[in-house]
Order: sequence, then structure tokens, then C-alpha cells
Amino acid sequence: MQFHLYTLLVIRHQYKVLIVYPWTQRYFGKFGNLNSVAAILGNPKVTAHGKVVLNALDNAVKNLDNIKETYSKLSQLHCEILSVDPDNFRLFADCLTIVIANKFGAAFTPEIQATWQKFLAVVVAAMSSRYF
Ligand code: HEM
Repeated sequence: MQFHLYTLLVIRHQYKVLIVYPWTQRYFGKFGNLNSVAAILGNPKVTAHGKVVLNALDNAVKNLDNIKETYSKLSQLHCEILSVDPDNFRLFADCLTIVIANKFGAAFTPEIQATWQKFLAVVVAAMSSRYF
């Protein structure tokens, strides 16, 4: 149940990135129609990709002491093959935080938010590590 909720959150934040920062759509040319909010929300490839990203985040949670090494190959892929501008990792992390804050409301206390954002800051740094 918790896994399902988490999946939904990650998928929703992926929708949010594509909607709020439409230039990120350029990286997903082979995902088909992303031309409107409705098209993005109904796109099964976006949903499937949300699960892929979920698994990658899960990997970071399971390797908290070694996130940089855990993401080394993924960072290289986004840099050298996918040519994703690393600024987008921060946007992506912010969207995820906003989605989670909306979902959990008051339960997402300042302390939890601080911990969560610290985790995501490490994720963003690790995803950016092979760019420099
Ligand atoms: C914390 C941030 C992110 C994580 C953990 C992440 C993780 C992943 C993973 C695990 C894959 C699949 C890799 C594979 O197939 O071997 C992937 C693919 C991809 N990612 Fe990311 N990603 C992140 C952020 C982003 C951002 C911000 C963008 C662009 C705005 C992006 C664009 C892509 C693209 C275009 C693909 C290939 C999709 C496909 O062709 O199926 N990623 N990402």
C-alpha cells in the first residue's frame, strides 16, 4: 500500500515537471504526444517512466551512505547520452517536494521537509557528479 502511494507520488511529480517546465518535454521526444496537459496525464510512457525513476530513488534510499557511487552510471547516461541539462534535476526535486507537501499537508512537518530536502540535495548532487 505504501509502495503504491509512493509510486503515485513519483508519477504525479513526473507529470508536474513536464507540465510546469514544458521545455523538459524536449528530452522525451520518443514518448509520443505530450502536447497538452491532458495528453501528458494520459500518456502511458510517462507513467511507466515514473516507475523507473521511483526505482532509482529507492536505490538511493537503500544506499544512503553511497549515493554518489550508486548514481555514477546514471549521471553519466544523463550527461553523455541523454544530454539532460543538470539544472533540471533541481526542478525535478522541487516538483517532487511540492507534490509530497500537497499530499501530506500538516504531516509534512518542517523537520520532515528539512530531512527530505537534504536527501534530495544529495540525489541532485550525485546525478550531476559526472558532468564536471
Ligand atoms: C533525480 C533525478 C532523476 C533520476 C533519479 C532519473 C532516473 C532515470 C532512470 C533510472 C532512467 C532509466 C535509465 C535506463 O534506461 O538505463 C532515466 C531515463 C531518462 N531520464 Fe532521468 N532521472 C532523473 C531526472 C531526469 C530529468 C530531470 C530529466 C529531463 C528533464 C530526465 C530525462 C530522462 C530521459 C530522457 C530518459 C530516457 C527515457 C527513455 O528513453 O525511456 N531525467 N532517468
